[in-house]
Amino acid sequence: MSIEGLAPTQVRGDPDALRQLLLILLDNALKYTAAGGRITVGLEAGGDAAVLKVADTGIGIPPEHLPHIFERFYRVDPARSGGGSGLGLAIARWLAEAHGGGIQVESAPGRGSTFTVRLPRGAGERSAEPELPSATLGARRGVAIDRP
Ligand SMILES: Nc1ncnc2c1ncn2[C@@H]1O[C@H](COP(=O)(O)OP(=O)(O)OP(=O)(O)O)[C@@H](O)[C@H]1O
Ligand SMILES: [Mg+2]
Repeated sequence: MSIEGLAPTQVRGDPDALRQLLLILLDNALKYTAAGGRITVGLEAGGDAAVLKVADTGIGIPPEHLPHIFERFYRVDPARSGGGSGLGLAIARWLAEAHGGGIQVESAPGRGSTFTVRLPRGAGERSAEPELPSATLGARRGVAIDRP
């Protein structure tokens, strides 16, 4: 697993919730990528948003399924993908939107998937939840995960 471009970036939000959002995406990347594949985590501070990307070279998602994967209980191929409830991405999307942001996916079968989370940066009127504390994305604690 490689971690790139993790310049610490401030977003307004609940650190535990944002950590959970990242872990949902990492859990999927590990689950749907066979040994020998590659998982990349990146963080960029673009303009008024922090952009977190979790990319893998795993099994990918057929285009007809892409519009549905953020729905609760939706799973592309339960027989092939082992256990799981189909809730991870629904929670991830909810968490991103609760922070005034969003989540998108690009994927191709057999090539891999990239999940992109955009979160509004910093303090101020743009924040959907002004009472939330400030969270630092990209601090090593809770973010870097090594896979043997
Ligand atoms: N990185 C990925 N590569 C390929 N397919 C993925 C990836 N992430 C999600 N999917 C597909 O989207 C479906 C929904 O993902 P989601 O995380 O919501 O559920 P799950 O992983 O099946 O179960 P849970 O996360 O609740 O344990 C998965 O079942 C899988 O088919
Ligand atoms: Mg999952």
